Amino acid sequence: MISLKLQDAINDQINKEMYSEYYYLSMASYFNSIGLNGFENFFLVQVEEERFHSMKMYNFLNEKGGRVILKAIDEPATEFKSALEVFKLAYEHEKFVSKCINELMDVAIDVKDHAAKSFLNWFVDEQVEEEATMDSILNKLKLINGDGMGLLMLDKDLSVRTFNPPVK
Ligand code: FEO
Repeated sequence: MISLKLQDAINDQINKEMYSEYYYLSMASYFNSIGLNGFENFFLVQVEEERFHSMKMYNFLNEKGGRVILKAIDEPATEFKSALEVFKLAYEHEKFVSKCINELMDVAIDVKDHAAKSFLNWFVDEQVEEEATMDSILNKLKLINGDGMGLLMLDKDLSVRTFNPPVK
């Protein structure tokens, strides 16, 4: 069993994870359009991560006897000025998601759902990594400062990123 209040909050978070997937797919498409396929690959892997997050919540809610209710996904931005702008936005977005996960944890604590608290701990930890990943590339882009050779080197680094689903 799961409280309706917590079910609603998890459904809202599923929608945010699906929006994140959509947002990062839009960023991947932008990088494809300017020929930076390593950056595109980075975001295509991020898309898979976000799908993993939403499906993890989908499975949890079903296991708890709740009901997943899908909502409309907002339209993401489609035009970006530079790689630097994209990573500023991605970092800000991950900070927003961390805040949402913390608020979701507050609901689980409020309704005294210990299983949900344990489940959500994974997301609390995951968000530390999500923010750090975006922040570290953002810092590299600040150093590169628009230099073409630097961008190409970073593009090469990002081309090897792969999605490795966590065991649990
Ligand atoms: Fe699902 Fe990037 O947080």
